[in-house]
Amino acid sequence: MRVYFDNAATTPLDPIVIEAMTKVMRENFGNPSSIHREGRTARSIIEKARKSIANSINASIGEIFFTSGGTESTNMALKCSVRDLGVQRIITSRMEHHCVLHPIESLEKTHDITLEFVDIDKCGRVDYDQLNILLENSDKKTLVSLMHANNEIGTVADMDKISNICQAHDALYHSDTVQTMGHFPIDVEKTKINFLTGSAHKFHGPKGVGFVYINGDSMIKPYIDGGAQERNMRGGTENFYGIVGLAKALEMAIAGMEERHTHINGLRQYLKDQLTQNFEDIQFNGCQENYLYTVLSVSFPPHPKSDMMMLNLDISGISASGGSACSSGAEKGSHVLESINAAAGRRTIRFSFSHFNTKEEVDFLLEKLKNIIEIKKEMVA
Ligand SMILES: Cc1ncc(COP(=O)(O)O)c(C=O)c1O
Repeated sequence: MRVYFDNAATTPLDPIVIEAMTKVMRENFGNPSSIHREGRTARSIIEKARKSIANSINASIGEIFFTSGGTESTNMALKCSVRDLGVQRIITSRMEHHCVLHPIESLEKTHDITLEFVDIDKCGRVDYDQLNILLENSDKKTLVSLMHANNEIGTVADMDKISNICQAHDALYHSDTVQTMGHFPIDVEKTKINFLTGSAHKFHGPKGVGFVYINGDSMIKPYIDGGAQERNMRGGTENFYGIVGLAKALEMAIAGMEERHTHINGLRQYLKDQLTQNFEDIQFNGCQENYLYTVLSVSFPPHPKSDMMMLNLDISGISASGGSACSSGAEKGSHVLESINAAAGRRTIRFSFSHFNTKEEVDFLLEKLKNIIEIKKEMVA
């Protein structure tokens, strides 16, 4: 048996998404920029996808731009708002994904901008009062970039609250919604936001395709020059088949959101209860009230061989993640766990779920975990 509990890193493609993509692959090969029939057909399929995505977050069609995913979308929003919208200061947090932190660091080197970090507590909750004070204390044009849900510990931020604070101080607001798009309802009419991002591979769509929502009032200039695609904003022939898969996957995620939420949250709670009841000194990282239901970040007590835990799980047939998989090639510890001052010596494993997971798979994990931890106890003795 092989069990995949690393859905925050990426999700398996839904067979229905594969079907939608392969149908278009077989039947349409036109370049969406061509004016003949093949081109027009491809163009209309892309525009249909754009409409469906815009509808799913209550945006206008002209506010959705296709990209290669969350990282590109975020680079586009952050870099272009400094270049085109007069942003002189960026406020963010130390637990953001690297797709936010690294562009900001590079902007700081190349542009005259100030960078400030809002405090977060030990659960990864933003200090909203401090955000207010930071915004009150400067007249500089500011962009606030705060993720909706953290990919490692699952803490969910209050988007409405941040939006209200930003509006009160005339600040721009960007949110990395890569982990919540398709998992939580997002309505840009209700929640005023300037930029948000989506990535298909986090909701059972293909990798290498996503979108950025750019509010009509904060339109930026072209990000990639070289073609009139995406209304001049991003030159280059569109990832046609990827866009079809993205739209199909998001449609299904939105339609099945409630049912998926209930199922996944049930698995998460079951794992949480079983771990607490059957293992010693288990803790959970992140806020346990406002949380991303697809993620359970488990902190295991110190153990001489705990570095081997991920490997042992893998050998036992379970894929999970230690911290964030996005940088798992790097030996460095998690900057997110560091930002919440997670206790040194404890070992964090992130289990992340999708609606394809089952209770039997959680039982399989618990059984293997018991073996792994018992084996280790014997090894120590
Ligand atoms: C919170 C968050 N933001 C951004 C990304 C990057 O998205 P992409 O892989 O589409 O570039 C990821 C994960 O990969 C993520 O978890």
